[in-house]
Amino acid sequence: MRQIPLGRPSINKQEINNVVDVLKSGWLTHGQYNLILEDQIKTYFKVKHCILLNSCASALLVSLLALDLPKNSQVIIPSFTFSASANAIVLAGLKPIFAEIDLKTGNLDSKKLESFITKNTSCIMPVHFAGQSCNMTEIMKIARKHKLKVIEDSAECIGGRWKRKFAGTFGHIGCFSFWATKNITTGEGGAVITNSKRLADKIRIISAHGIPSSTLQREKQTKPWLRNAIMPGFNFRMSNLQAAVGVAQFKKLNQLNQRRRQLTHRLTKKLASIPNIITPLELTPAHHVYQMYAIRVNKINRTQFIVNLKKHGIHASVHFDPPVHQQTFYKQCAKTKLPVTDELSKTEVSLPLYPNMTLKDIDYIAKIIKKIIPSPKKLTYTRLKDFKTIFQKQGAYHANPKGFQAWFLKDNYQAIAKESNPNDVVLDIGCGEGCLGKYLKVKKLIGVDYSPAALNLCQQLYPKVYDDLLLGDLRRLETLFLAKKSFSLIICSLSLMYLIDSDLIKCLQEIYKLLKPKGYFVFTYPTVGPLRKGNKQAAELQPSVLQEKIKQVGFTITKIKPIVPFISKKTFKQYLKSKKKMTLESSYHFLGKARK
Ligand SMILES: Cc1ncc(COP(=O)(O)O)c(C=O)c1O
Repeated sequence: MRQIPLGRPSINKQEINNVVDVLKSGWLTHGQYNLILEDQIKTYFKVKHCILLNSCASALLVSLLALDLPKNSQVIIPSFTFSASANAIVLAGLKPIFAEIDLKTGNLDSKKLESFITKNTSCIMPVHFAGQSCNMTEIMKIARKHKLKVIEDSAECIGGRWKRKFAGTFGHIGCFSFWATKNITTGEGGAVITNSKRLADKIRIISAHGIPSSTLQREKQTKPWLRNAIMPGFNFRMSNLQAAVGVAQFKKLNQLNQRRRQLTHRLTKKLASIPNIITPLELTPAHHVYQMYAIRVNKINRTQFIVNLKKHGIHASVHFDPPVHQQTFYKQCAKTKLPVTDELSKTEVSLPLYPNMTLKDIDYIAKIIKKIIPSPKKLTYTRLKDFKTIFQKQGAYHANPKGFQAWFLKDNYQAIAKESNPNDVVLDIGCGEGCLGKYLKVKKLIGVDYSPAALNLCQQLYPKVYDDLLLGDLRRLETLFLAKKSFSLIICSLSLMYLIDSDLIKCLQEIYKLLKPKGYFVFTYPTVGPLRKGNKQAAELQPSVLQEKIKQVGFTITKIKPIVPFISKKTFKQYLKSKKKMTLESSYHFLGKARK
């Protein structure tokens, strides 16, 4: 039977050659490879100092010690983390205060963060969960306001970004782990980065017996035996052997992360139609590097689910149950209830993910999950050829919910909502991520969309708004099984561009005839600029022609909202200036440009 472990390091010839090189050199402790890896890390993260250590746990501890925080002062962390984060705080003579997280990302909820700050708080230690950065803009704002230090626990996020800036580079100090399943590995290992020379010097000294010079440096001196401890210290150093592995690994960091993203997107697409599974969400403007593939399961016996996966050779796990504030030692520190943390802790499942997985492994995982959790719906789903190429290129799978809401037609939706009545049974074709649904107060609301990613977002953002969400492509006759249901209102939020295909119009006609409802058609014209730009036929298409066709189907066009004609950067900027909710970055993100 196929066996798929939770994680597996990507070790190639280069790592092996480097280790052999060290073994042959006879210099196994902190040595030349440490210097190379520290330089690689400094260059990559654009920081002034890097100190390699034997683990992230050590990195967190020495960082706290180096900051000289007042004894017994409070350090805020999420409870949804590995115990190492909290251990470091206690071992540094400080008090962990567990703050609440956001359910969608598992990261600190920056909106609730301030409520955990007291006059005794000295530091915030955000943890970037599973490869996705916390909202560092907000966290840093709060830290500055209250004059708090920030140490980023970026053990699970090497190369992840928030607004194009690397996780680990926002706070006073950033800490990474190179444990075996992390984005890159040295077996055991960790690193600290900082721009402060004072902190870097102190961390280096505390981590090396309290002695300010390294063995390597002393070797070059006349009296290498002179070792002068200026403070008590640990031996937390990384060895030359580990660093040798790290040098080869770090060269591949971007490539490995890219592969993680590619595998994730495939798995997310494949899992999207399975009920009660909520796939990971990449929240704009984060660039997620998926150190783990963390899903949530609803209404499913999680233990049984994991046991069943194991029967098929798929080794899933849970991060983190129990959360730290429920663990024996830390119960005493838990002052407030953390319901979101508890919920995520009870529902999270980490599925296997590592760069050397094959696409077949991914497909196998999806197939087995489908088998374990059978879908009650039989809709098959094929993507229109054009959609596939265009949408993948444009990165629509990472659609930004806020951007969507701002971009699409809030006022149109509100207008439609007024036309509906509480007894309506509504079919929302092209429901997308659900921004129309939330305005409707009707008896029954069913959403259909061709995009699994959009439906997945919808499920997460508006879990109780839709009575049913269906994955379907209008061109597939299966969609027409909906005809068996009796709708009193159809709302079609397709973009005009999708309707250049006459089959689609035909399909709409059939749906409309069969269901005999009243119907509203909402659209934007032109749609997203690059989509039109990439498609000559669409670019030449006159909106008036399509409007006619839509009217022939029987729909009422409620509003045509011209958005922006494509879209020079300048025009777009001007447009965005007039819109408060959407930033330039988030809109480009939606357009797929942020990924390039
Ligand atoms: C969030 C977090 N912090 C700290 C650590 C500790 O890292 P290390 O094993 O390198 O000590 C881990 C390890 O898994 C982690 O996930």
